[in-house]
Amino acid sequence: MSTTRQLDTSDLEARVKDMYREVAEEPHKDFHFETGQPLAERLGYPPADLDRIPAQAIDSFAGVGFYFDLAAIAAGETVLDLGSGSGTDSFVAALHAGPDGRVIGVDMTDAQLDKATALAREGGFAGVEFRKGYIESPPVEPGSVDCAISNGVINLSADKPGVFAEAVRALRPGGRLALADIVTAVQLPEGITCDAALWAACIGGAMQRDGYRQTIEAAGFEVVTMRENTGYRFISDRASNASEKYGVTSISLLARRP
Ligand SMILES: C[S@@+](CC[C@H](N)C(=O)[O-])C[C@H]1O[C@@H](n2cnc3c(N)ncnc32)[C@H](O)[C@@H]1O
Repeated sequence: MSTTRQLDTSDLEARVKDMYREVAEEPHKDFHFETGQPLAERLGYPPADLDRIPAQAIDSFAGVGFYFDLAAIAAGETVLDLGSGSGTDSFVAALHAGPDGRVIGVDMTDAQLDKATALAREGGFAGVEFRKGYIESPPVEPGSVDCAISNGVINLSADKPGVFAEAVRALRPGGRLALADIVTAVQLPEGITCDAALWAACIGGAMQRDGYRQTIEAAGFEVVTMRENTGYRFISDRASNASEKYGVTSISLLARRP
């Protein structure tokens, strides 16, 4: 009989939804990770952009890096935000895409979707919409997206090859994938990868960085840039100890669909 431990993916989904419901509804609580405007500014979000998007979205910002310089979203483009949370990155993308552009945020957590949808309506972001769905099967037409973005989300998926394959499907030929995510220096041991609480905290599901890049390439992307972000840190003792021990870091990445 095998003694290999398995991650319980339905338990994981429930924990991830619970955690990010709290991030939407009670953003000032203590989490394993930082949230909010000081984090966004330290990661490199221009304060002038943050001033132009809903403050309550930024309160619930739980991203791990800045990548909009890599995404280089142009006016009129269609953007897909994978794991849009309370909407910070979707609203920033809308500033770049302009009145003729379109942003579709996809998330599986109702409280995040409800908050982001209300903020888009109140803030007059007519070109931004939020759809319920999984990043493993985003509800968009094949080839309809110019740029897919994602911040701090793909590490949470138990099917990363599936997420990248679906990003390829959603993008038009020549389209870009620009993201920030968590990776590790060394492969995490089972004790960490099977710990759903650490997984939901953006550590347990993190891939070793070379493997992460290879997974993106295997889906059909050309990786253009992969850079390490300083300025992201975990807060709780448990998360920061694991992060130090296994070289858990934030990266920003740009890849192109040929
Ligand atoms: C760390 S938060 C980041 C949210 C947002 N990108 C930001 O920067 O604030 C992760 C988000 O991804 C969503 N999420 C996690 N796994 C998902 C999946 N498999 N499909 C759809 N959404 C997912 C969660 O509900 C949560 O809102």
